[in-house]
Amino acid sequence: MELRDALRSTGSIRSFQDRPVSDELLFEILDDARFGPSGGNRQAWHVTVLKDPTLRARVGELYLDAWHDYVGHVLSGLTPFSPTLTPTERDLAASKRPDAIAISKPDGFAETIARAPILLAVSVELGSLAATDRDLNRYQIVGGASVYPFVWNILLAAHERGLGGVMTTVATRKEPEIATLLHLPDQSALASIVALGYPTTRPTKLKRRAVGEFTSIDYADGATFQP
Ligand SMILES: Cc1cc2nc3c(=O)[nH]c(=O)nc-3n(C[C@H](O)[C@H](O)[C@H](O)COP(=O)(O)O)c2cc1C
Repeated sequence: MELRDALRSTGSIRSFQDRPVSDELLFEILDDARFGPSGGNRQAWHVTVLKDPTLRARVGELYLDAWHDYVGHVLSGLTPFSPTLTPTERDLAASKRPDAIAISKPDGFAETIARAPILLAVSVELGSLAATDRDLNRYQIVGGASVYPFVWNILLAAHERGLGGVMTTVATRKEPEIATLLHLPDQSALASIVALGYPTTRPTKLKRRAVGEFTSIDYADGATFQP
């Protein structure tokens, strides 16, 4: 696959064929993904391949529990988990959890994630992160940049081989439970649960903002950048 095509067509896949994915193929995918960048090239990621059905089921339950929080935000008209939400907005989202549970569909992705052909827990060792915004008095974002390019590479490498998947983060709300369950070391964080498999369908056109909507010249509020 041409890189340009891959960049423009690697959409989220949440519905998979029953067809299994071999360990050899998963190994190849990870072997390509490992060339992703990280601050200081510390490569602080760890991938736990979830095979045990009991572990998968428990991770799936925790994912769904967190997903209800996500849907609670959506039902409240809020950007889910935005760090800038006020306490009142957070309370509103929490109050919608029962509604979120009520509209849960048995065959939805969140309800069936435990059955994805491949389920990976990607964690990261905090001591190796170059979190350059550590001392700023705002929500910290830079540390994640040392692991999510790797996660994205997994999805690109999967796409190259006819597979698809999705990077998920809602289950990070359940990090303490998942850390205990999967024996994550102290001073590590759960970055993502990644589901992979052969897609039932693939999106044909991704919805993304046009370049002119997110670029400007010289100042963030400067003139729109156009060639
Ligand atoms: C940091 C990040 C976190 C995400 N978390 C979730 C998630 O928890 N669950 C999920 O179903 N999708 C998750 N996604 C997938 C996004 O919903 C998806 O990339 C976005 O809606 C664009 O949709 P598309 O890929 O179908 O075009 C996440 C994506 C990113 C980059």
